Amino acid sequence: MKNKLVFFPSLFAVCLTACGNKAYEAKDYILKMNYESDFRILQLTDTHLGDKDNTKLHYDFMELTIKEAKPKLIVVTGDVFTFASKGTAIDFFAWLDKQQVPWTLTFGNHDEQCWFSIDWVTSYLNNLNKKREKDHSSYCYFLDLQDDKVKGNANFAINLMKDDKVFEQLIIMDSNRYNYKGYFGYDYFHQDQIDWYTSLVNQTKADNNDKIVPSLMFYHIPLPEVNDAWEAAKNDKSLILNPTGSEAQENEKPCNPLYNSGFYKVIKELGSTHGMYFGHDHINNFIINYEGIHFGYGIKATDRVYADDSLLGGRVITLHDDESHSLTYEDYYHTYKEVM
Ligand SMILES: [Fe+2]
Repeated sequence: MKNKLVFFPSLFAVCLTACGNKAYEAKDYILKMNYESDFRILQLTDTHLGDKDNTKLHYDFMELTIKEAKPKLIVVTGDVFTFASKGTAIDFFAWLDKQQVPWTLTFGNHDEQCWFSIDWVTSYLNNLNKKREKDHSSYCYFLDLQDDKVKGNANFAINLMKDDKVFEQLIIMDSNRYNYKGYFGYDYFHQDQIDWYTSLVNQTKADNNDKIVPSLMFYHIPLPEVNDAWEAAKNDKSLILNPTGSEAQENEKPCNPLYNSGFYKVIKELGSTHGMYFGHDHINNFIINYEGIHFGYGIKATDRVYADDSLLGGRVITLHDDESHSLTYEDYYHTYKEVM
């Protein structure tokens, strides 16, 4: 969705912007990719790249994980940039393309603190996505319908196709940035986004002979229920899914939105999403099976802003072929000493 220009002096001009938003159908938000057996998704998060960084160092660092992980898809779950200019963003996207692995991303609360607008970056990514579709000159999967009615700048889905059917749906969502109304703090998923999710999941089910298509979600700011998940795991360690050698950690209290917009309740009722992956809290790394849905913090991909040097790298989420679409995890940790 395009950011509204709220400072326009003319009421007429405001109306043109606000009233011009278009309603799209669920299918308009869907990209497609082939599912391959035991599909490996590498989650990188909170890169926070900015103009003052030694980007080559961070690229070398992330390549350690990418080479080991051998992913079929890379997902960057927000806070991609902080104090970055267009040149830094373009350079990062070119570096991602150089990995020759399909990639996608969503935004975090810091991605608007840059020398470009979110609308500029979504237009750039939309163009990369078109290039991929046209002549395979990019590996970018991204779609923001800038004139739609849905809040946020990255709400779309990637259908993983197997034998001409949707095997799994990867739902990328924008958890937005800050809330200034009612309270000051992190924003939440708004009702129009919850409606969008509902329509996407229901339409996908309808197109699949009324059978629910399982989905995984990727976004930045954890839902408030992440606290319930951690509490549940304290009492029942069998809920913890971190792989051997990667102790589940909550080193900071989750900075989730203060307002609960009821998204989790809807997700549960619809019964499609069985894994949700996010970032935001840089020094947490747990994955917990809470009420049948995996709640997973990513592993921070660079040491920018704040970090625990022993919790840097990335996580592979493997989606298996079995009937239950089971999920397994591999955590990769590295130190900057390896690339200095
Ligand atoms: Fe962050």
